[in-house]
Formats: sequence, structure tokens, C-alpha cells
Amino acid sequence: MRIQVAHTADLGSGELDAIRALLWEVFDDMGEDDWEHSLGGMHALAWDGDQLAGHASVVMRRMIHGGRALRAGYVEAVAVREDRRRQGVGAAVMGPVEQVIAGAYDLGALGATDEAVEFYLSRGWRMWPGRLYALTPQGIVPTLEEEGGVFVFQAMAEVDLGGDLTADWRDGDVW
Ligand SMILES: CC(C)(COP(=O)(O)OP(=O)(O)OC[C@H]1O[C@@H](n2cnc3c(N)ncnc32)[C@H](O)[C@@H]1OP(=O)(O)O)[C@@H](O)C(=O)NCCC(=O)NCCS
Repeated sequence: MRIQVAHTADLGSGELDAIRALLWEVFDDMGEDDWEHSLGGMHALAWDGDQLAGHASVVMRRMIHGGRALRAGYVEAVAVREDRRRQGVGAAVMGPVEQVIAGAYDLGALGATDEAVEFYLSRGWRMWPGRLYALTPQGIVPTLEEEGGVFVFQAMAEVDLGGDLTADWRDGDVW
């Protein structure tokens, strides 16, 4: 298995098409907004020859916490082909993404599927136990339905895990 780490700008159309195909195969509810959320940062791709077995990306967002706008590495589009699961492919794509977070961001964050919770916990991600909000064009609104499903990584000492976390705005799912 070969791991490729590259910015969106450095991926060719064949690589982007392979990521899109994997995401639409893995997620029943995959949409164009979700695709757009995964672009503009660093990608990790796991290749079996010319077949894409796994993918993860990390993009920059702002998370307001404790009166500060933290620079967050937000993880998106974590997917492993069904026949390649539980063979370390997910770990192989998350490793480089977590290295990017540790080296470049105040904290990592992501919205987890139920299926992936144990995977993230096993890698040291922690569930955000506090309140979650979104900074919408209409102002700050609570996102109650997301509470319990957002995980953070390598949080700085000043981050109060019990406090509020407010995500910047985007089309589609905000978390
Ligand atoms: C979540 C996902 C990316 C994990 O990828 P993977 O390649 O199977 O994960 P790995 O083989 O690297 O697993 C590493 C460790 O994570 C944990 N883990 C992974 N999947 C798990 C599961 N379904 N249940 C419990 N623990 C799990 C285990 O500790 C595992 O180590 P082990 O196999 O030695 O016990 C993969 O199941 C997937 O693509 N799921 C569908 C899409 C999805 O939900 N993506 C997450 C979006 S937030």
C-alpha cells in the first residue's frame, strides 16, 4: 500500500475522480456540499496499485472557543473501501492528517459517524462534551443535534473541553 499526501492543488483530475468515486461508494448520503467540504487542504490517499483503498483530508476552519478564534484542522471524507476495512488503511490515512494537525493547528476537530467512533477513540480523539454552535449568517445558533458527535484532537491546554465550541459557517452540514 502506498500513502500519498498532497494538497488539493497538487492532485490531478484522475486522483480527484478516484476520491470522489470512493466517497460516493462509501457514504449513502454523499453530496456535493460534502465533497466541497473535503477540498482546499491536505489529503492522504492509500493506494493499492491503481485502486484507491482509503482517503482522509484536513482543511482549515475557525472554531470559536473561550473568546478566541482557534485555527482548527477539520477532518473530512475519512473513508476506507468496504473490503479493505480493519486492515490498518484508516490508520494509515489518519496518521499523516494528525501530523498536519499537530504541526499546523491549535486543535483538530471532526464530526464522526456512529460507525467511526471507536476508530477515533482508539487514536486519541476525544468527544467534545460541551455545547456546540454555528456562526451562521443570521447569528450564532445552537446545533443540539450534533452534540456528542464532534471529536477533537491535540487540544491545547487552554481548551476547556466542557465549554462551548462554535464552528464557522459553510453550506451543507456545518459540522
Ligand atoms: C471508520 C473507518 C474509516 C475505519 O477504517 P479502517 O481501515 O477499518 O480502520 P483500521 O483498520 O485502521 O482500524 C484501526 C483501529 O480502529 C478501531 N476500529 C476501526 N474500525 C472499528 C469498528 N468498526 N469497530 C470498532 N473499532 C474499530 C480498532 O481499534 C482498529 O484496530 P484493530 O482492527 O486492530 O482492532 C472505516 O470503517 C470506514 O470507512 N467506515 C465507513 C465510512 C465512515 O464512517 N467514515 C468515517 C467518517 S467520520
